[in-house]
Amino acid sequence: MRRWGPTRLPCRAMARVFSGIQPSGDLHLGNLLGALVPWLDYLEEHDAVYCVVDLHALTLPKDPAELQARTLELAQLLIAIGIDPERCTLFVQSHVPQHSQLAWLMECTVSFGELSRMTAFKDKSDRSEFISGGLFTYPALQAADILLYNTAMVPVGDDQRQHIEITRDIAERFNSRYGETFVVPEHVIGPVAARVMDLKRPERKMSKSEESAGTVLVLDDLAVTAKKFKRAVTDSDNEVRYDRENKPGVANLLDILGAATGEAPEALAAKYEQYGALKVDTADAVVALLEPIQARYNELAQDPGETTRLLRLGAQKAQEVAAATYERARKNVGLVAP
Ligand code: TYM
Repeated sequence: MRRWGPTRLPCRAMARVFSGIQPSGDLHLGNLLGALVPWLDYLEEHDAVYCVVDLHALTLPKDPAELQARTLELAQLLIAIGIDPERCTLFVQSHVPQHSQLAWLMECTVSFGELSRMTAFKDKSDRSEFISGGLFTYPALQAADILLYNTAMVPVGDDQRQHIEITRDIAERFNSRYGETFVVPEHVIGPVAARVMDLKRPERKMSKSEESAGTVLVLDDLAVTAKKFKRAVTDSDNEVRYDRENKPGVANLLDILGAATGEAPEALAAKYEQYGALKVDTADAVVALLEPIQARYNELAQDPGETTRLLRLGAQKAQEVAAATYERARKNVGLVAP
């Protein structure tokens, strides 16, 4: 019943799950609750493939030394959260060259119009001085990531919905032009904390690219984290009710508390009469979640050689599947065998 490892063959009975995260900016509570905690659910009964997408991080200008350090740091954080490389395939995107190779075939399958409609591109290009070609074709690389692994399910936060939809469109178009090549994946967006909002500006999602006093970082000092919750924006009517539209600050706290404790936000709302107690309990739940992650991360950070070794093994496992899929795509599209 275990996933494929160096001594096991791929277990075809288990559905393949793929997801990725960029090593850009600091890991925050939105990433943790919206994506990474849900990733843990797939370690036992699915064939989970998780990737640190360093090539995607290059779409906005990056300091090379910082990118290198953040890639390793993120891999260590993933392991600290419980993404155990013995129970899944964990690797760095640029270590498996088929991602870049297939991305070109994806770029030639997606249209300029489709790429122009991506809201992530519009948001990011509005905020950057230098708009790279890579930022525009980013969804083609993301489609390659997913399709290389015959992925059935892609667990992501709500902001990735459009990226998974375009991946499905690309896969279907490729299959109809060149014959069955790719599995068409489904996205899985968790009901709880799929969109964690900034504590100070609850109408905006918590984001790596726009850190504010309302962004809670996974590696923040825990006293600072508790303070951020105390200062979270709520509203003036002082009624605890789960209403995302009219009470976004309160609903965000309930979502966070719900995701950290496994309880439904609506049920939690009924337990509180005042904002103060809700803020304290949410802060305590988040601190209790982060404390062991930070301790484990600090241990792993002492031994970067071990993380590098685990990532190398992960890339070898990933490449076995990626090479076979790329080969099928190469052949079907009519590129001559090397
Ligand atoms: P990235 O690195 O921005 O975010 C990683 C994951 O965190 C989720 N997330 C959130 N969830 C809830 N609330 C928030 N405030 C919040 N902010 C981020 C994201 O939805 C994501 O699941 N394009 C992707 C990376 C990627 C990828 C892939 C994902 C590249 N290839 C293939 C899945 C499959 C991205 O930039 O995620």
